[in-house]
Order: sequence, then structure tokens, then C-alpha cells
Amino acid sequence: MSIEVQGKNILVTGANRGIGKAITESFLKHGAAKVYAAVRNPDSAVSLIEEHGDQVVPVKVDLTDESTIKAAAETASDVDIVVNNAGVLKTTSPLADDAIDALKFEIDVNVCGLIRVAQAFAPVLKANRGGAFVQLNSVASLKNFSDFATYSASKAASYSITQALRDKLAKQGTQVLSVHPGPIATDMGHDAGFDEIADPPELVSEGIIAALQAGQFHLFPDTMAKQFGEAYASFAENVVEANIAEG
Ligand SMILES: NC(=O)c1ccc[n+]([C@@H]2O[C@H](COP(=O)([O-])OP(=O)(O)OC[C@H]3O[C@@H](n4cnc5c(N)ncnc54)[C@H](OP(=O)(O)O)[C@@H]3O)[C@@H](O)[C@H]2O)c1
Repeated sequence: MSIEVQGKNILVTGANRGIGKAITESFLKHGAAKVYAAVRNPDSAVSLIEEHGDQVVPVKVDLTDESTIKAAAETASDVDIVVNNAGVLKTTSPLADDAIDALKFEIDVNVCGLIRVAQAFAPVLKANRGGAFVQLNSVASLKNFSDFATYSASKAASYSITQALRDKLAKQGTQVLSVHPGPIATDMGHDAGFDEIADPPELVSEGIIAALQAGQFHLFPDTMAKQFGEAYASFAENVVEANIAEG
């Protein structure tokens, strides 16, 4: 499967800042008709609207609140590509007092949020000839980083769910893309201590457009991510992307 961005309607969760803002701007630069900026606070999309006019349509989405996601799926009923980008990170070791609270918080947003978005938008994408579903996972989906151990666990879980979505959504012609950035220069990257090693968010957003055109399932867009991708390529091809019977 392969999808061109030109003329398409896109929805991006967490479009107001960081990687989500870069994704919004890259899609518009490559000829998207419209981007639904799915944000917790519609006021946070004002600068995007000032720059791009009515090509940016704010919709309220909180990944922890199913009702907002269902309402967004009704508003954005003409969407062709859904990008579930929004996510949260706590810097927590498994031995810290707040580890379990951090894990529950990250699972609710990063994993249950993904499931909520997929459940609400799968029928919309099906009605619109399949389209594509993009999930922002991480290199931390593949290796646990002990200073943000619970985040890594949540991103491993979201990657696992993304694999299931690839299988299930293929039946309705929806392409699924799993994106695995390394350190990226955003607020989250700053909080994780990545300032010295971070790559720009445009590497991720431009990579997504190329990967959708190429019909890839995995994307490793930046310097560190490419190292992971090379080491992981054989397992990805021969196990994750292989057609192994489930019994
Ligand atoms: N930066 C990195 O180094 C890096 C590396 C690998 C993967 N990633 C992944 O890439 C994605 C984007 O990360 P980022 O670096 O751009 O993060 P960021 O700068 O911290 O921005 C996070 C975005 O998620 C939104 N968000 C948080 N909780 C939400 C909720 N409950 N409902 C809806 N939106 C919510 C935020 O909205 P508000 O403005 O309202 O808070 C904001 O738009 C995340 O999934 C992250 O895990 C990032």
C-alpha cells in the first residue's frame, strides 16, 4: 500500500507543538487539502490558523477522554490520514516511588489513547477508501531507557498495538505506519535531557510523508533512530512484518 499526501485531509493529534506541529506544516507544504489540528485546547492552534488560514481546522481531542475523540471522528468525517502523535513522558526509574503512577498515566495517554483513536477513526478511514493511520512510537519501543523506564514500557506497548492495527486495518485497505524517532528537539526532548543530541522535528515529519509514499510499516527517521533501524531490520522483516500464522 502507498498513499500520496497531495489533496488529502489529515488529522494530527497534538498538532499545536513539537513533532505534531512539524507534521502539520510538512503535510500542508506537500499539498494536503486540510489538517484537523486535534488539540486539548483549541486556542493552542491559533498560530497555525494565523499562518495557514482555513486549511487548519482545530478540533478538541484529549486522548484520555473517549467522548472528545468520538466527537472529533464525527467532525473530521472526510479524513484520509490519521496521525496519532500526542504523547507524554515522565522521567522515572522503576525503583522510584512514583513509578507505578507514572506508568498508569503514560499507559492511559500513550496506549489507551492510541486504542481510542484507532477505534473511533477506523470506520471513518474505511468509509474514505482506506487511507492511512500513523502512530508515533519511539526507539524506546525497542529498548528500555532506565531514566524514563515507564515511558519506554508504554511505547513498547503502543508499538505492539500498532502491529495489531497493521494486521486488522489491512483488511479495510488502511495503510499503517509505525514511526520510531530517537531524540528530537521538542519540549519532551528537552524534558528527557536530549538538548545536546536532538535532531529537528522536520526529520520526522518529512520522513513520514516519504514513508507513506513508499508504503513502509516502520520508519526510523533521525540519526539515532537509523542506527536502531539498521540493527533491527532483519527482525522487522523476518518476524514483525512476516506473515506468521497465529495458529
Ligand atoms: N521528542 C522526542 O525526542 C521523541 C522521541 C521519540 C518519540 N517521540 C514521540 O513523538 C510524539 C510527539 O512528541 P513531542 O516531542 O512533540 O512531544 P511534546 O513536545 O511534549 O508535545 C506533546 C504533544 O502531545 C499533546 N498531549 C499531551 N497529552 C495529551 C492528551 N492527553 N491528549 C491530547 N494531546 C495531548 C500536547 O498537548 P498540550 O500542548 O495540550 O500539552 C502536545 O501537543 C509523542 O508520542 C512522543 O512520545 C518523541
